[in-house]
Amino acid sequence: MIRGGSIRSNFGETSEAIYLNSGFCYNSAEVAESRFNGEDPGYVYSRYINPSLKMLEERINLLENSEASCVMASGMSAVFASIMSQIKAGDHFIASRVLFGSCYHIATKILPNYGIEVSLVDGTNQDEWRKAFKKNTKVVFIETPANPNLEIIDIEFVASLCKKHNASLIVDNIFASSYSQKAFDLGADIVIYSTTKHFDGQGRTLGGVVLGSQSFIKDTLLPFHRHTGPALSPFNAWIIFKALETYQMRMERHCMNARKIADFLDSHPKIQRVYYPELKSHKQFEIAQKQMKNGGSMIAFETIGSKANCFKFMNNLQIIDISNNLGDSKTLITHPSTTTHSNISLDEQKKIGINDTMCRLSVGLENADDLIEDLKISLDKI
Ligand SMILES: Cc1ncc(COP(=O)(O)O)c(C=O)c1O
Repeated sequence: MIRGGSIRSNFGETSEAIYLNSGFCYNSAEVAESRFNGEDPGYVYSRYINPSLKMLEERINLLENSEASCVMASGMSAVFASIMSQIKAGDHFIASRVLFGSCYHIATKILPNYGIEVSLVDGTNQDEWRKAFKKNTKVVFIETPANPNLEIIDIEFVASLCKKHNASLIVDNIFASSYSQKAFDLGADIVIYSTTKHFDGQGRTLGGVVLGSQSFIKDTLLPFHRHTGPALSPFNAWIIFKALETYQMRMERHCMNARKIADFLDSHPKIQRVYYPELKSHKQFEIAQKQMKNGGSMIAFETIGSKANCFKFMNNLQIIDISNNLGDSKTLITHPSTTTHSNISLDEQKKIGINDTMCRLSVGLENADDLIEDLKISLDKI
């Protein structure tokens, strides 16, 4: 993560240069022709690829042990391109029902508009999974742990069904992080990250990445990506690339802090319920043990009482910020029902276990004792 992917120019710089250019020049018209027909692998245009983007892709490939990847302008552009590049009208798409609001919007509002049949399943129910597959099932999309309630899906189980039915499995691994879960090892065909989250980790940039086999990236994803244009800015690519140098150390601290906070919340009388993969009370604890290295940096919990109590608790926090982002060095708290998941009807929210006393906590890098003190003082006020 410090040396991997690095391209050093003739100037011999220690920190990698930023290639903040849109186009490239050719020594002759013949060279331009051979770049475009693929005989010369050199650069063509930054909407396609650029040295700063290339460095980032190589580094992420190393992190995920992936054959290939394509970085993009945001996590959502990565989610959308990974689905749309391999599906067409008349195909069938399956997703687990607990999804980030924008992923839910793609599944329930955008895909049906393009003649794609959509089924949502309870990701934890193996019978529902078995029954959901059809002859025309082409793509399956899961988040695990899911945003916001950290529901956990058995990736190996879903991957085996996908293999049997010749469908492609996309795992949105954002909540888990690459540090805590290696989805390819569990059978995913394609893995997605929002680099906005832990990869940048300091809340500065938007970005996303799709990882997969050489043939999927080259033959399926790139033609979609290059001609529709969700390109990542080289400046943002450079920031994310440099941030990966400290990824491992940051993630250790994120996860250690989260574990301490989950234990604290779990024993607090003003907390109704805690959702954290490493707690024995988590409904899919056994699956988490099988497929995750640790519990990750995200926690969900419900306060006692009403929505007003929950808001009072959030408003009284002094260190922890109210924000809808996650994977930041700063600890951030979200009220999913009224923000990140507010596009999902209250009835549907209820069905997937989101209620108005649920908070989502993205645990940062501060001193865990300070964070616990902040939570404690605020909880005492409700
Ligand atoms: C599970 C999940 N998928 C996708 C995204 C989208 O990422 P971005 O905000 O970078 O577009 C998010 C962002 O919160 C997310 O939580």
